Amino acid sequence: MIKTLENKKTGPKRTFRDKIFDYSCQKIGKQRTKTFFKLYDLARFDLFGKPKGAIGSIDITNRCNLRCKHCYFYAHDYEKQPELTDDEWIEKLESLKETDFPFYQCSWVGGEPLLRKDLVERGMKYFKSNLIATNGTIELPNWPDVNFYISVDGRKEMHDAIRGKGCYDKILKNASRPDLKIHVSMVVNKMNYQDIEYFIEEWKDRGVKGCLFQIHTPVKGLQNDDLWPGWQLRDEILDTLLKLKEEKYGDFIGVPGLVLKLMKSDKCKEITRNCIFKKVAFCFDPQGQIKKPCMMGPQADCLRCGCVLPFHMWALEDKWLMARELLISLRRKKVKKNPAISSQPERVGKEIR
Ligand SMILES: C[S@@+](CC[C@H](N)C(=O)[O-])C[C@H]1O[C@@H](n2cnc3c(N)ncnc32)[C@H](O)[C@@H]1O
Ligand code: SF4
Ligand code: SF4
Repeated sequence: MIKTLENKKTGPKRTFRDKIFDYSCQKIGKQRTKTFFKLYDLARFDLFGKPKGAIGSIDITNRCNLRCKHCYFYAHDYEKQPELTDDEWIEKLESLKETDFPFYQCSWVGGEPLLRKDLVERGMKYFKSNLIATNGTIELPNWPDVNFYISVDGRKEMHDAIRGKGCYDKILKNASRPDLKIHVSMVVNKMNYQDIEYFIEEWKDRGVKGCLFQIHTPVKGLQNDDLWPGWQLRDEILDTLLKLKEEKYGDFIGVPGLVLKLMKSDKCKEITRNCIFKKVAFCFDPQGQIKKPCMMGPQADCLRCGCVLPFHMWALEDKWLMARELLISLRRKKVKKNPAISSQPERVGKEIR
């Protein structure tokens, strides 16, 4: 197998679109070209829907340097099975090139993906957009085009209680990288929900782009069901996030208000029962096999799912509401630049509420 790869020229498939991209870069520069292509993709996906496999995740490793209390990943016995080698993974991606796999957006997860930095660097070249979900305890590589999502589960004492002593200080050091696109991501559970505002305050002036919130998803077979907040508290958590977003932190909270509303108990079950993410996304496990129904694996309790993705995708189906949300967000940015605007009536905002 290694021999075959050595002899074969590997790398992302070059399409007609790539040729136009390169031509445009020469003419108007890379940054502008990227913006145009992003807008084009958004319009295309909006009109025709995302193609199957346009987004998804790869568990690039079954190893992790931590054992967090809430983690779904170790509900499986992945570590007992060998993971694909670097060349086997590249061969897997090469074989996808023979299909109509869209190679659009990939989230690199695991385990801890930065334990296989070299491989992730090779694999990322196949996709147009890449996201790395990391525990932040390993130095971040110099990848300015990538979106890093560092998991932070509350204040230092709380984070270390969930993830292990000393983790928080490592994150503070590794996240001080103004040269990179970094978000912080908190999984809210019964243990840490009181830390939400503290967490935002702690990170809002540290140069990260924003913060993401998800809610603990119970996974059968793991001894962590006590982290599930219950429906009533879950709704209160979502109300708190909505209030903080609307009244104080705006777009620094990276989850749209509409998505937070859809996650509430009166709506969420219909959405997770008909999970769009499960239908359209790709997820590979560390052996390169399709992981079903999603990256959280078959033991995840869909009805109590706290992942934002199904709700995000559901919201996108309602294009008009998302367009309004976008207008509100643009207005917030304008107000931030020119506070005098805030005294004018907020027409768009009132319509959505
Ligand atoms: C499995 S981890 C892999 C990436 C990396 N090791 C990390 O911790 O960010 C991906 C994300 O899933 C989250 N996660 C793990 N178990 C979860 C659960 N039961 N419910 C919701 N999110 C969970 C983690 O907090 C992390 O943000
Ligand atoms: S660092 Fe990530 S993969 Fe590792 S145990 Fe924690 S949540 Fe799971
Ligand atoms: S756990 Fe959540 S994201 Fe995964 S398939 Fe179920 S509802 Fe969808």
